[in-house]
Parts: sequence; C-alpha cells; structure tokens
Amino acid sequence: MKRIALAVVALMSSVSASAETVVITAGRMLDVASGTMIERPIIVVEDGRITKVGRQGELAVTDGKRIDLGALTILPGLIDMHVHLTSDPTLSGMQALAYPSSFWTVLGTAMAKRTIDAGFTTVRNVGAADYADLALKMAIERGAIPGPRIVPATYAIGATGGHCDSNELPANYVFDRPGIADGPDGVRQKVRELHRRGAEVIKYCATGGVFSIGTSVGAQQYTQAEMNALVDEAHMLGLKVAAHAHGTNGIKAAIRAGVDTVEHVSFADAEAFELAKKAGTWFSMDIYNDDYILAEGAKNGVPESSLAKEREVGLRQRQTFQAAWKAGVKMAFGSDAGVYPHGDNARQFGKMVEWGMTPIDAIRAATVKAAEALGREADVGQIAVGRYADIIAVAGDPTQDVTTLRSVKVVVKGGVIAKDAR
Ligand code: ARG
Repeated sequence: MKRIALAVVALMSSVSASAETVVITAGRMLDVASGTMIERPIIVVEDGRITKVGRQGELAVTDGKRIDLGALTILPGLIDMHVHLTSDPTLSGMQALAYPSSFWTVLGTAMAKRTIDAGFTTVRNVGAADYADLALKMAIERGAIPGPRIVPATYAIGATGGHCDSNELPANYVFDRPGIADGPDGVRQKVRELHRRGAEVIKYCATGGVFSIGTSVGAQQYTQAEMNALVDEAHMLGLKVAAHAHGTNGIKAAIRAGVDTVEHVSFADAEAFELAKKAGTWFSMDIYNDDYILAEGAKNGVPESSLAKEREVGLRQRQTFQAAWKAGVKMAFGSDAGVYPHGDNARQFGKMVEWGMTPIDAIRAATVKAAEALGREADVGQIAVGRYADIIAVAGDPTQDVTTLRSVKVVVKGGVIAKDAR
C-alpha cells in the first residue's frame, strides 16, 4: 500500500489546489484494500475529494484547515447496500397505516442523521414511498440536513399481490401502489418511469418476504421473462439492479436475468452460488436482522404470520451466508436497517465474523467491495486519491475487534466533520 500511496502522491503533486484545502492526520489508517495499517497518515483534501495520501513527515505539509484525529484509527466511511431510511421498526404492521406519507419523509431526516453518525457515509435506499429518498438526498446534498450519500431506488418494483405490494387492507380500500408492475412490458415501463423520476438503482421483489402479508417467503413472484425485461431495461439506462429474493428459484432466476445484487438470499443453494460466481453477482445478506425481529417484533406490531416466516429464514440465512462466502461468492454489506433500528447498522459486522468472515473481509464488504457493487469505485469505499474524503475514526483496531465499529468517534464526509464524539 505504501508504495501505491506514494506513487499516487507523486502523480497528484502536479494538481493545483482548488477551493478549500483540508489536511487530515491520525494515529493510523487501515488500508482496506491490502488490510494493512499505515502509521501516522496524512490526507490532503481539496473540494471534498482526496488529492494526496501519505505519511506524516514524508509528505510535504500543505496549507489548509487541519483535522487532527490524534491517536485514532481511520478507515473509509462505511457503505450499507440495503437500508430504508423512511422506515421505523417500532412502527411495524397495521399501526404504520395511521401515518401520512409526509410523516415518513420527516422521520427519514432523523434516520439519515443516525445513519451518518454511525459511520455510514453512503447508503443505497432500496425502497421508499413518495420518492422520499430523493427528497432526503436533495436536502442532504444542499447541506440542509446531515446524512449519508444516498443511492435512491425510489419505489421498489413488484408484482401485484407480491412482497413489494401493500396487501394489508381489504380490497375495497383503493389507494395508489406506484411500484406495482406486471408483465415484461409493464416492468420495462416501470423502470423507465422510476428512472425518469430520479432512481439511481432499480430494486424489485423476485420472491415473497417476511414482512409482507399473504406472501410465501420462498415463492418466486416474477417470471424469468419479466425479470429479464426488467434487468435489460435498467442496464440499458445505466442503472444497476437489486433483487429482493429469499427463495431458491427466485434467486436463480434473478441471477440468470443478470441482476447486480441479490438481497437476503436466504435459501440459496450450491447451484445458486455457482451461478452467482459465474455471473459476478453480489450477495447482500442482512444477517443481523433475525435477532432483532425475534426479540422485538411482537412488541413492535409485527404480525404473527411474519414472525413465523422469520423463524423459517433466520438461521437458514446465516448458514447460507457462511456457505456462500466459503464458496467464493462476492459479498457486500447490506443490513436492511429500517427493519431494525437505524444507527445500529454496524451491529451486523459481528454477525458476519461469527458466521465465517475475518474482520477485514467484513470491513471490505462495507467499503471497497460495496463501492464496487455500487459501481462507485471512483467516489467511495477507500481512502485513496480521487475519492471523496469520507473517513471515520475509531479508538481500537477494527481488524482485531470488529465491534469497535459500533462506536465510531469521528465521521468526516467530503472533508467536513459530520460528527465528533471525542
Ligand atoms: N425485508 C425483508 C423481508 O421482509 C426482511 C427479512 C428479515 N429477515 C432476515 N432474516 N433477514 O423479507
């Protein structure tokens, strides 16, 4: 890493400073790509992006605003591939219907703050009503409210009566269900519509799920032809596709259709692993969730039908995670925060280590690997020249004890301090 960093520094030294220059120093820096610690790092940031990375004493000191993180360990801001910023787990089930859509958008502002305070500087929001994730993104980008960088999916697309539909109310209640589309032409049109509205990733439901009413968690919900059309259209528009899929057949159909990430992936088998490896498909598995849902779900209003489905998938999903990782499937960190409390995203690192990853692999899944899965290697996921200065600081060594990521001391986003809890 050191050699790479120095080469990069040499390359960048001719670039002249623009706008505001920030100089960040710390005790050590985890280079997530190599897994090595670099002592006494210094990072120069211009206009929010990193222009130099080196070691204190070796890199010529630049004028600029100083952020000295003392003895803390820094690493790239974390990335969560699967959140719902406009959901509150303590308002589950029918009680959620008492709140207007504007309520969830307002709530999202608080959840965005919790998320960035937890060290997650980039999230993919894979399903929000009312285009609320776009509104949050706009407010955050204007600097009006604190929050992570958001890759918004807007509405999750789903089949009539499927996991992404709203099946709670009797049929005589008529209301808008803007994410619903059926048939190859229908899903193509829906992708175009969401793209037109500003979606930067397409999320769809390939199988039933835990929290939906009247869906079998393992059952496929779009035909192969529908999935093919949806993915083809999204890719034509330059959008990546995330498929919610628990059941084996739905997972395989999604991979065959060419999706970029499969979410949940509970009942994947060895053939699904091979298909994913061949296609380069990422798995994003929310394996912390089960603990929270089973402990708090009933109190939060989750109906018994969903708790029963959770008991079916919880352990199985973790076993699948372990087997898939062992088989060599690419993994990106996705928590499904919103189903469990926002701000607790990092709890999942411990589970990933418990189920077969080394700490550095779990950290990579939420940094350099997640950036790759997003197709955002130029922007996020590493402390490297060219990328945004999204940097978090912790007290210990997360490669020894990954739970240190649950108490992030300082968060810097684009070279600006977003949280300082030293
Ligand atoms: N949103 C997902 C669903 O409803 C959550 C699944 C949570 N359970 C789990 N074991 N990961 O299907």
